[in-house]
Order: sequence, then structure tokens, then C-alpha cells
Amino acid sequence: MKVLVIGGGAREHALCRSLSLDPDVTALHCAPGNAGIAEVAQLHPVDALDGAAVARLATELEARLVVVGPEAPLVAGVADAVRDAGIACFGPSAEAARLEGSKAFAKAVMAAASVPTGRSYVCTTPEEIDKALDAFGAPFVVKDDGLAAGKGVVVTDDLAAARAHALACGRVVIEEFLDGPEVSLFAITDGRTVLPLRPAQDFKRALDGDEGPNTGGMGAYSPLPWADPKLVDEVLETVLQPTVDELRRRGTPFSGLLYAGLAITSRGVRVIEFNARFGDPETQVVLARLRTPLAGVLLAAAEGRLADLPELVWRDDAAVTVVVASHNYPDTPRTGDPIEGLADVVAQDAPDAYVLHAGTRLADDGGTVLSAGGRVLSVTATGKDLAQARERAYAAVGRIRLDGSQHRTDIARQAAEASEA
Ligand code: AMP
Ligand code: GLY
Repeated sequence: MKVLVIGGGAREHALCRSLSLDPDVTALHCAPGNAGIAEVAQLHPVDALDGAAVARLATELEARLVVVGPEAPLVAGVADAVRDAGIACFGPSAEAARLEGSKAFAKAVMAAASVPTGRSYVCTTPEEIDKALDAFGAPFVVKDDGLAAGKGVVVTDDLAAARAHALACGRVVIEEFLDGPEVSLFAITDGRTVLPLRPAQDFKRALDGDEGPNTGGMGAYSPLPWADPKLVDEVLETVLQPTVDELRRRGTPFSGLLYAGLAITSRGVRVIEFNARFGDPETQVVLARLRTPLAGVLLAAAEGRLADLPELVWRDDAAVTVVVASHNYPDTPRTGDPIEGLADVVAQDAPDAYVLHAGTRLADDGGTVLSAGGRVLSVTATGKDLAQARERAYAAVGRIRLDGSQHRTDIARQAAEASEA
């Protein structure tokens, strides 16, 4: 089958890599893509937010399946436009993508479906804001209602800072603080059947030891040796299935990837947020462990046939990904720097370690790869356990040269040490 992937980050590179390894995929296209994706897929320029343009491209390419990676096109209705053109699309409708696009909507769905989440208030006036902040006390959790590319959430002990962020948001969700480790659990769904993937953990803060500003994610690993083996079943039963059922009941079924961001608190599992798409960088490690060819699963979801699918098959391997970010990420990342050493990773670390590109582009010379975003590369490795996967990922990171770049050195360290002890 011919497949078109929309997007151009490391998540889309991971998707394209898996799809390129699927014998059922006869042609792989990506729009707009990046310098790394160009090695496994044919790239096309497109405005990913323009549903008509994406549908036109998919029609021209005779795509059997379109996979929409990022949230912005989903919220903009790109999946609807593709489906309206008669082409199967993996990704929710604009209506269903509001689960990610509006935190207040997500809270309302969770309340209706009795899904466990932090108590919260939706506020629009300074009086409501002050009342909510006072009700919960520190630490304060203040979330912009709309899509904010990871920058909408402020967690702080500083009342003045919490208040200032809330006032700047317009419509804001103020929420109780949830303590405990975070887990990302993805599920593929056709709007009825829900197929959970393996859990992963990402590292949102820029610096080692969870210091520094929030980012899009600096690394991830899977499996989670410390997690309760019953976690996936519990979350399927209490979170994923009820949410999918509630959206179907409302007449806006969610088909695509439902991402549950969870806190494992002392009082049980709580949803921190939903996303309507594969997470980045968690996808890099989850797909590294999936043995079942990907295209058939995504197509079955897009066509409402997930119930007929055999169970997913997983590798026993562990996977770790380390994000290499530009100088000054996440504030004002510097771009346009040459990246060296990529061929050394292929020569010395493949197939256990490989580089997935996030923000990269080819220079005009057609050979040099340049940084083109905040998160530049997602260096991914597998191994028999987390310790080996870590070692391999960091060995590969060490071969890459990007002036001024930064990465965390502690991705999966604690989990690897704990599982060895
Ligand atoms: P979000 O954009 O909702 O994923 O929030 C970004 C990050 O803020 C999360 O990954 C958490 O680390 C943190 N966060 C969000 N909500 C809460 C909460 N209720 N309690 C504690 N931390 C939170
Ligand atoms: N890793 C966080 C996200 O994809 O939103």
C-alpha cells in the first residue's frame, strides 16, 4: 500500500522508519518531512495545516492511507479533509482532537466518563482565578485552555507567578497538584476498540535531575521496570475505554492515537492530560519495541476494523532515546549549524542504535545536514535491558557533533539502576 505521513519531526521519522520496514508498504511519502526522513520516504512540500492541500497531495499520490503526526493539523481538521476525499486517515477529526486542543473540553469528557483526573476549575475572570488558586494552595498548576506547544502549563510554588500566567491565558484551567511519577500510555483506537501500546516515560525538563524549563521532551524509555504490571489493563479499563466510549456517545468518535499522560499518585492513577496523537519522544521508544508491522494496524484503525486484528507482538528489548537539542533550546534555539558524525553512528552503532531527525534540513550543497529547530535529533537505541540500550544510545550521541548542542545525561538512568539492583 502507498502511505503518506504528514509532519516532519522525530515522531514522524520514527513512524516512517517503522512503515519503511513494513513489507506491505510499497511506497512511502512524507510531507513536509526533514533531512532524515528523506532517506526512507519521498518528501513533498505542503502546508500541513491546509486540509485541502493535504487531501490533494494524497489523491495525487494515490495514497491508501494518510497518517497525521502532529496535533496542529488534527485540530485544524486535516484528517476530516482527507477522509472527505475518500482516503483512509489515521488521526482523529477536529471535533475529537479537542480532547487535546481544549483542556476544559478534556476535563468535561473525563467528568462525564468518570475518568480519574485532578480536580480543577475553568476560570475566565481574575476573581475566579484567585478563588481557584486559594482553594488548591501551592504548588499551583495553571494551564492555558488552548494548544500552546508545551508552553501553556506552569507549575509553581510562587502565587504571583501562577496568577500572572493565569491572567495572561484568557481562559485557564487551574488544577490540583498531582504528585508521583508520570507515565505516557498510547492507545490505537478506531473509535470503539482500544489497543493499548507499551507504556513509556519521557523527560520534560531541559536539564539533568529534572531541573530547568519545561520542553517538548528531552528523552524517553520503555519498558518501565518499576511500574505495576497491571497498569496497562487498569488504564485501559478506567481511562482509555471510557474516554473512547464517551466520545462515541457524543457523536464525535475518536479514531487514531489516544495518548494518556498519567500521574501515578499515592491515591491511584490520575490523567494529567490527553493528546490526540503519538507523543514525541515516546513514540521513538515504543515503536522500537513493536514487532507487528505498523501499516496494517494504522489502516485497520482508520477503517474501523481493529476488533479483527490479531494481538500486537512486542520485542523483549528495552529502548532509550536521547534528544539532542540546539544551543539555547527551549528559549530561542539557534539553527543553521552543521551536524557531523551521523555517518559514524550508521557505521559503528547500527542496527542497535540509530538517529531519528527532528529539526534538520539539507544545506544547499545537498550533503550537509543542518539544524533547523529546537529539538534536532532523537538518538534511539535498543538493548537487552535499559542499561544496554542507554549505553548504546549515549555512545551514538557521543559520535555526533553539533556546535553548542545540549542533551540530558540521565535519561533512563534511575530506571536502569533500579532494575539492576
Ligand atoms: P501538560 O502540558 O498538561 O503535559 O503539562 C506539562 C507538564 O506539567 C506535565 O508533564 C507535568 O509534569 C506537569 N503537570 C501538569 N499538570 C500537573 C498536575 N496537575 N500536577 C503536577 N504536575 C503537572
Ligand atoms: N512527550 C510529550 C508530548 O508528546 O506531548
